[in-house]
Amino acid sequence: MCGIIGYIGARQATPLLIGGLRKLEYRGYDSAGVSVLDPALGGPSRVVRCRGKLGNLEEKLKAEPAHGTVGIGHTRWATHGRPSDENSHPHKVGPISVIHNGIIENHLQLRQELVASGSHFSSETDTEIFAHLVERQIVDGAENLTVAVRKALAKVRGSYAFVVMSDKEPGTLVAAKNSSPLVIGLGEGENFIASDVTAILAETRKVIFIEEGEMVTVTKDKVEITDLEGKPKQREPKIITWSATQAEKGGFKHYMLKEIHEQPRAVADTLVGRVDLENDDVNLDGVNLDVKNIKRIVFIACGTSYHASMVGEFLVEALARIPVEVDLASEFRYRDPIVGPGDLVVAVSQSGETLDTMEAIREAKKKGAQVFAISNVIEASIPRLADHAFYTHAGPEIGVASTKAFTTQLVAMTLLAIHLGRRTGALSRERARVLLNELVQLPNKMKEVTDQGAHLQVLARRYGGAHGFLFLGRGSQYPIALEGALKLKEISYIHAEGYAAGEMKHGPIALIDDQLPVVVLVPTGPSYEKTVSNLAEVRARQGKVLAVATRGDHDIGGHSDDVVLVPETALELQPILTVLPLQMLSYYVADQRGTDVDQPRNLAKSVTVE
Ligand code: M6R
Repeated sequence: MCGIIGYIGARQATPLLIGGLRKLEYRGYDSAGVSVLDPALGGPSRVVRCRGKLGNLEEKLKAEPAHGTVGIGHTRWATHGRPSDENSHPHKVGPISVIHNGIIENHLQLRQELVASGSHFSSETDTEIFAHLVERQIVDGAENLTVAVRKALAKVRGSYAFVVMSDKEPGTLVAAKNSSPLVIGLGEGENFIASDVTAILAETRKVIFIEEGEMVTVTKDKVEITDLEGKPKQREPKIITWSATQAEKGGFKHYMLKEIHEQPRAVADTLVGRVDLENDDVNLDGVNLDVKNIKRIVFIACGTSYHASMVGEFLVEALARIPVEVDLASEFRYRDPIVGPGDLVVAVSQSGETLDTMEAIREAKKKGAQVFAISNVIEASIPRLADHAFYTHAGPEIGVASTKAFTTQLVAMTLLAIHLGRRTGALSRERARVLLNELVQLPNKMKEVTDQGAHLQVLARRYGGAHGFLFLGRGSQYPIALEGALKLKEISYIHAEGYAAGEMKHGPIALIDDQLPVVVLVPTGPSYEKTVSNLAEVRARQGKVLAVATRGDHDIGGHSDDVVLVPETALELQPILTVLPLQMLSYYVADQRGTDVDQPRNLAKSVTVE
């Protein structure tokens, strides 16, 4: 999740690029840069880039001004390579400047090939590979920049939006899109390219959205769209009527709703480069864990990340047969925990900055344990403190209530469990294959759930007036019940409890009457019948049951007042689907109550106090 902007016209590019980047900063902010050239002078472009927020780049540009009427700019959310000056975009190789949003899946192999044939890299990024590939095509005689980019794209696998500029063809920008947004803004004698309409709304509202597998060649007077084979495509421009704030939220009312809908894409990004279908295995970004000597795994985390860790316990024990404990990071160091060599402590944090989790890591390291961090923010304090880091690549999450960070944590847990299981021998190659194939299909299945917004809105109206909610689930659905209750509490301020369904009869059953909605997670699986019995116990006491069940379950309607169905998947992956309707229910209930969904009272996105 980075921000992209390009300009070609008669005005000075730098102020326009900076203005656009300012609008994109919410997408990523660990570094920024521009490459600007003046076609009249025909000279090489000037690249100015640096680590940190956009303000740092603006300061640098005062000392090193970049003049010219053609340019590209980028604000980065690191995926490959830590945030640093060298890893900032644009990347320049010979006459070619490149900015990129997305992940090049086959970057390791391409980098090896390029290095073997003499290329020198100055960054750790996957993006620089593309700059080298385009430059090679120019050296090998490609007739123009468009052809060079097309040939380079043929070598690349993954998700991308690229914009490429060449010192040798200063009147042209070339862009391409696959699974990462790209829009062209049309002006009079000038044109813009951006990852997001927000970046160009101040300049033009006349836009063309580029579609999957398309390239576009942009001059100051012309926009030519083709497919990746060069076949021309026609597209009528659209006029954007959104306000700037609406555009920032992608047309959604709140960031949280946008982020709920981003989850299929976020999960696909978490999987990129990690799923090895040839060997039925998982590559943990080159992390080599001494698996045979791991005696126990201890998850430490807070809040939503703690719930993800509870699912992690289920996954690692089931797939790798390594004993697991899950601890609240805020409690961990206060009870003199028994932890040490032989333990792998997995610290889970969306922000990578939660102080409780950092202190727990320090305690674990002091006692000799190895620490593996799962974080969404590259080079945040937690992954830096840990021995190994694994990033979820969900992109920046702005809504305080975590959604896409949670589902991508669940995917990270699954990948870790498969990786461990293949090495302990507890997970057969055949079962690993089934799970990996299911993981790959998950984004489409998630979309089938997030497409049910209208149904969830109706349910939110039906139940949103209640004073309290109960969420029930068994096995790996129990943490999802906890997460559903937390989500509702955080943004709607309605009291909610999550319970293991089998525990209901030991206490919370006393709460049940016709005023208490009970959300029951009851996907097909070994606990199905037992959970249906719990659901019957609720109904026998006039409780209102909203069931989250598996599509094809024709009986569940007879046991509940309302049903939300999710597609079938492997038992281990069900939590990633069943949590989605709970996030949506919470969102719509909160929205109907008119709360501040994105910044709920008393909460902060990153909790840096103990
Ligand atoms: O950034 P972290 O994942 O370490 O944060 C932990 C909790 O503060 C966080 O999950 C919190 O519970 C969220 N508001 C959940 O939506």
